[in-house]
Amino acid sequence: MKSTTIHLHRQFQIGPVDPRIFGGFLEHMGRAVYEGVYQPDSAHADADGCRTDVLHALRRLNMTAMRYPGGNFASGYHWMDGIGNPSQRPTVRELAWQSLESNQFGTDEYIRLCHTMDWTPMLTVNLGTGTPEEARNWVEYCNCASGTRYADLRTANGSRSPHHVTLWCLGNEMDGPWQLGHVPADQYAIQAQQAAKMMKDTDRSIELVACGSCGIGMTTYMDWDRRVLEHMGDLADYISLHRYVANREANTPDYLAVTNSIDRQIEEMDAVCRFVQARNRSQKRAYLCFDEWNVWYRNQQMDGAGKHAPHLIEEVYNLEDALVVAGFLNAFIRHADVVRIANLAQIVNVIAPLLTRGDELLVQSIFHPFAMMSKRRNGFALRSAVEGPGYASSTNGYVRYLDTSSILDGDKLHVFITNRSLNEPAIADIALADGRLDACVNGETLTGPSATAANSFETPDLVTTRPFESVNFKHGRARCELPPLSFTAMTLKAS
Ligand code: AHR
Repeated sequence: MKSTTIHLHRQFQIGPVDPRIFGGFLEHMGRAVYEGVYQPDSAHADADGCRTDVLHALRRLNMTAMRYPGGNFASGYHWMDGIGNPSQRPTVRELAWQSLESNQFGTDEYIRLCHTMDWTPMLTVNLGTGTPEEARNWVEYCNCASGTRYADLRTANGSRSPHHVTLWCLGNEMDGPWQLGHVPADQYAIQAQQAAKMMKDTDRSIELVACGSCGIGMTTYMDWDRRVLEHMGDLADYISLHRYVANREANTPDYLAVTNSIDRQIEEMDAVCRFVQARNRSQKRAYLCFDEWNVWYRNQQMDGAGKHAPHLIEEVYNLEDALVVAGFLNAFIRHADVVRIANLAQIVNVIAPLLTRGDELLVQSIFHPFAMMSKRRNGFALRSAVEGPGYASSTNGYVRYLDTSSILDGDKLHVFITNRSLNEPAIADIALADGRLDACVNGETLTGPSATAANSFETPDLVTTRPFESVNFKHGRARCELPPLSFTAMTLKAS
């Protein structure tokens, strides 16, 4: 059996893990809002019309920043359509997904949901068909004390206290030709700078995310980001990254090695941030906001054919996808010093860990790694030196069989390990150079009958977790056996 040693030291800290890397994304797309979180006619609906079964499951993910209302949807959205008396809100043609938008769920419903779920609100303004002034007005509606036009409107709509939305995205994927209002980098930079100034003049406490490249394959990759950051200067607190990964060639070893490429994307984007900071002679460094990430390639149904809540991109996830999701989170933790926010795209029905069918709910494979890591997220990310066998993947370079990250939380050490081997268990030897590992507080492992095994409404627990406590301790080191194609999260006692 292959054996790998994971060397750690408590002083070798990368940085505190920002809880906001466990964020989500709720877009007005397909059945994410309607028939997803919000369905007043469901047997599960609460007094606000939200589905308690969905919310109950989402609570287990312990999500933080919840990005809303898009996505591509945001670039055609006029926020004033979604406030006030629901019976008087307009139904509009939605162009990004060719759907009908009834506007029954809007800003105030979203904020109420954030309160219910303890989510940090994160709004994307419309820099496609909208104006910088419309964006500024939304900040006033959400954040200012009553006494001026838009803040008074919020009070009239039932919320005397401000909503305190501190995180705002300056548009969505504006580098993509598919985006409503797509423009070249310099033009976007001007619009974003104008919006940012007015938004921050309205509320100095907000933080802003500038639109970065929406993928590593874009022809303007890196150049777009440099131009935007240079022009925006200190107004940009974060730059966004997006990434959807795929296993189109049905090559599992290569697919599982995609972590190399995710690490690299993060490091490249951080390099641009540092370059611009130096070039602008600025004291301020922009950090990374990975505000859309997931696996997405099978379901390409993106045309809503003029329907309300059509079935769009309802991807079905399998075991290998779940291991890739764990790989994303491992990469964010390994770069805890620069990745400050990340949003799993999305949360229900649309490329999501949860699927609804009528009043039924299915937990998909990718739900599990997120839940396993989110509950162990407090503390400081530690650097690790991994010594063990690996393989050369066909497009993603050389990787070790074990992909790992770890977080030190006082006298507890959270360790996350994926075994990428298709059919061999692996031994992991965890060594804390400046201390001892004495006991396993708790642990769980995720696996399934094959890489392509997926949960369904008929077999909902094919890919699921089971307790993992069989860790042996000798000379202050922890030693355990990891099943092939598995992801394990454990909390060890460190002294
Ligand atoms: O998450 C689905 C879509 O993917 C988003 O609306 C868009 O930003 C991205 O291209």
